[in-house]
Order: sequence, then structure tokens, then C-alpha cells
Amino acid sequence: AFMKEVSGFSVLEQHVKDKLQLNHVIVVPGNSDEHDWVKQELGKACIHYLKTILQMKQTIAVTGGTSMAAVAEMMTPFNGATNCMFVPARGGLGERVENQANTICVEMAKKAHGEYRLLYVPDPISEESYQSIIEEPSIKEVLEIIRDADVVIHGIGDAVTMAKRRKASKDVLNKIVDGNAVSEAFGYYFNESGEVIHKVRTVGIQLEDLYKTDCVIAVAGGKSKAKAINSYFKQGKSNVLITDESAAQELIREF
Ligand code: G3H
Repeated sequence: AFMKEVSGFSVLEQHVKDKLQLNHVIVVPGNSDEHDWVKQELGKACIHYLKTILQMKQTIAVTGGTSMAAVAEMMTPFNGATNCMFVPARGGLGERVENQANTICVEMAKKAHGEYRLLYVPDPISEESYQSIIEEPSIKEVLEIIRDADVVIHGIGDAVTMAKRRKASKDVLNKIVDGNAVSEAFGYYFNESGEVIHKVRTVGIQLEDLYKTDCVIAVAGGKSKAKAINSYFKQGKSNVLITDESAAQELIREF
């Protein structure tokens, strides 16, 4: 009862949890569309949650994006969970270096006093190189670690915003717009019903891999992301959501 009073958002959290059918929801105050410190609060809440579930020698796969960068910024050493390993969830998606999964992964590992392994793949990647790259022993080894991750942490973005930020080609952008894609996660673009409209060809975690991961944490806030969050969870492969007050209120009002 004490914890519920402290968080102050237990009713809102419960509503979102019921609506999206999740195992756990954390709501932080504010709107990350308006203030950067709200994103840092999302990061802090994510680290706090991670510390309650993480065990020794576990592997954590992370995606890129500014919300994930905020999680990395807030990372502190894990006391109980020693020897953890951080890996990028997927290869390059067209993000600038500071928003890439590899970069975020290194920062997290350093701050958590953990290990890391990285994925070096061209970005974007042709079908031909993709087929040969996944056969490279050094890549194969990292891919196995990634696909066996105990915890996956990822962002959710608005589809068109993400496609533009990643400088998608005109054809891809048209595909996303014409297909009415509204959300993006892991380089997958989804429509309102959660159907995949487009997928960036890269190595690493595929959507189906998430079924066998016990803990998949989505970190996404801001009123403007409510639609994207709702769409992503139609696929229902993540079981924890860390969001903010504005996104949460919009989620229960509109969807
Ligand atoms: O992978 C990136 C996410 O889909 C969204 O990025 O956290 O910068 O909004 P963001």
C-alpha cells in the first residue's frame, strides 16, 4: 500500500495494464514531448525496474533511439546482478551514431560494470550481403547471444517520424505512408492493427524471437506516441511498458 501511494499513478498504471494486457506498467509524471527531463525519468524508472528482475550473468539486448539513450544515461552499477552482458538487439537501422543500439549498449555496459558484444553490419544491408553476413562465424556467435537474451529493452516510435529520422528511401517512405503505418519498434513498422507494413533488413532479433523472451520492456512516452504504443502492443510481444503520464492518459482515453 505504501508503494502505491508513493508512485501516485497506480490507478492509471492499472488502467493501461488492463487495456494493453501487460504484466507490468510504470507511469512517470509529465510529457516527454515537452520536456527532456521526463525522458530521463523514463530512463530512471527503467533502471529501477531492471534492478528488481535482473540476475547474475544475464544478457540484456537493447535497441537504439533517444528513449533508450536516456536509459543508458541513467544506468548505474547493478549490485546483485554481476557479470551481465549487453548486446544490441538488431544491427544498423539508419540511426545517427548517438542513437544506435551499439553505442547505447557500450554506455550501459560501462556504467553497469558489465560486458558487451557488438554487431558490426553494414547499414542498410542488401539481401545478398545479409545472407553471407549471417554465416560469418564472428557474427553468428554474437547473434546467438542476442537471440538468447534474458531481457530485451526497446523504444517505440511514430512510424513516419522514425522513417524520416533514419533517412528511409522514397520508396520505403511511400510504403510506410500508403500502408498507414503508425508505429515502429526494432526496425519493424506496424499499422493500427499491429500488422507489419515494412521491416528493415538487418541481423539480430526478429519479432518472433520475442515470444520466447521472458521479459521484454518497452520504454516510450509523450502524448504524441500514444497511437504508436497502442499499435505496437496489438502484436503483444512485450510485457512491460514504461511510459509517462501524458501518453498513459491519451492511451486510456483514445484507444
Ligand atoms: O527505435 C527507436 C524508437 O522506435 C523510437 O525512438 O526513443 O527516439 O523516440 P525514440
